[in-house]
Amino acid sequence: MGETVKLIIEGKTIELPVLTGTEGEKAIDISRLRELTGYITLDPGMANSGSCTSSITFMDGEKGILRYRGIPVEELAEQSTFVETAYLLVKGRLPTKKQLNRFSISLNDNSLVHEDMQFFYQNFPRASHPMGILSSMVNALRSFYPELEGLSQTEEINMTVTRLLSKLRTLAAMSYKISRGHKVIYPRPDMCYCSNFLNMMFDTPVRPYEIDDDLVQALNVFWILHGDHEQNCSTSTVRVVGSARVNLYAAISAGIAALWGPLHGGANQAVITMLEEIHSSGSDVTPFLKRARDKNDPFRLMGFGHRIYKTHDPRGKIIKSVCDRVLKKLRRHDPLLDIAQKLEEVALKDPYFIDHHLYPNVDFYSGIVLRALGIPTNMFTVMFAIGRLPGWVAQWKESTEDVNWKLHRPRQIYTGPSETAYVPIDKRKNTI
Ligand code: CMC
Repeated sequence: MGETVKLIIEGKTIELPVLTGTEGEKAIDISRLRELTGYITLDPGMANSGSCTSSITFMDGEKGILRYRGIPVEELAEQSTFVETAYLLVKGRLPTKKQLNRFSISLNDNSLVHEDMQFFYQNFPRASHPMGILSSMVNALRSFYPELEGLSQTEEINMTVTRLLSKLRTLAAMSYKISRGHKVIYPRPDMCYCSNFLNMMFDTPVRPYEIDDDLVQALNVFWILHGDHEQNCSTSTVRVVGSARVNLYAAISAGIAALWGPLHGGANQAVITMLEEIHSSGSDVTPFLKRARDKNDPFRLMGFGHRIYKTHDPRGKIIKSVCDRVLKKLRRHDPLLDIAQKLEEVALKDPYFIDHHLYPNVDFYSGIVLRALGIPTNMFTVMFAIGRLPGWVAQWKESTEDVNWKLHRPRQIYTGPSETAYVPIDKRKNTI
């Protein structure tokens, strides 16, 4: 037996195996705990529990490290493209030139969506949030693209993965066009993934969209930074829902719903809303910091803090430099950037934020980048979803291929009433 730890429960000592990850992180394997002792563990929010082993993404929250398949995110942001990074995440290795070319072509070949899907959009109420629409549309994709006869399971999965990666971006751009009452712009075979998305969003019959390589590069970096983040809320959701062996579209649809929340992917939209509020109240950050410190006020400084990163979010630093570059290129001055910088400067010296290990996360500056690209605020979380898709798919694939994978079914500690007899309605007291 390898390394173990001893646990003494009610005078009885049991030995539990210890697992060590590639980077030295340790876990106690408690999978036989209940069988051996009758006890379970309790860990609300699962901050101390590993739900799986995974070879996709490594994070070190103390050192501020993020690597996909071993490669630092800084190197990918500097040298890779979103499509190549998606290949890396999903297939587990960097592609050769030929593989990358074939992958890009298959993404383009699958980029159209069934024409009837346009009718769905027409029937959502005007004020619907794009994340709710996107989640529904992705679920609907299964009806339009059912399982293909005659393909092996691997071929079927590969086809579904390609379709999803390609069509999510088309669906997102379509939702924007339709929400504005504009003509839908179709994907073009001569454009790469990011240019195609920007073109589908902003090209119009009367004003052709001019592709700017620096903005395309900014979008590549934005999506690379969001590619995967190990077992975060939406990824865990994809794994949990996927563990019931539902199809990939349904699992991703659930992941999109989870990402929507303001404590998770919805934070990028919430940051801009908060910065606009500070701006319209006179640009003084002090009352907002005071509110964030106040235990009796539910207000939180959006774009600050992270469950894992406790020194800095490596993505935050990269997105901040992208933000500077994009605004410089566009020769644009965004007053929200001034406020964000002031907020960061003051918060990083504030004992509350220091003691609570609260630093700007990726969402703090990403909204300003997206604004500069022309993306409307309510589409920000959709942009996060497109970036996170390769990670969700990779994690779903890994879970379905794991020989030890089980249906997710946690236990609980019941705190309700003990056995209580049923009282017929006419015998109940205090009924009105
Ligand atoms: N502003 C003020 N106080 C905060 C903040 C914040 N942004 N974040 C955490 N705290 C305080 C919190 O009040 C609590 O204080 P105390 O211990 O005195 O009661 C303490 O820090 C721990 O908070 P927690 O909610 O238990 O910590 P967590 O690890 O569960 O929180 C978080 C992580 C991201 C939910 C949280 O930091 C937060 O709500 N941040 C704002 C939303 C945000 O920016 N989310 C995007 C995260 S990055 C994108 C992604 O990967 O999804």
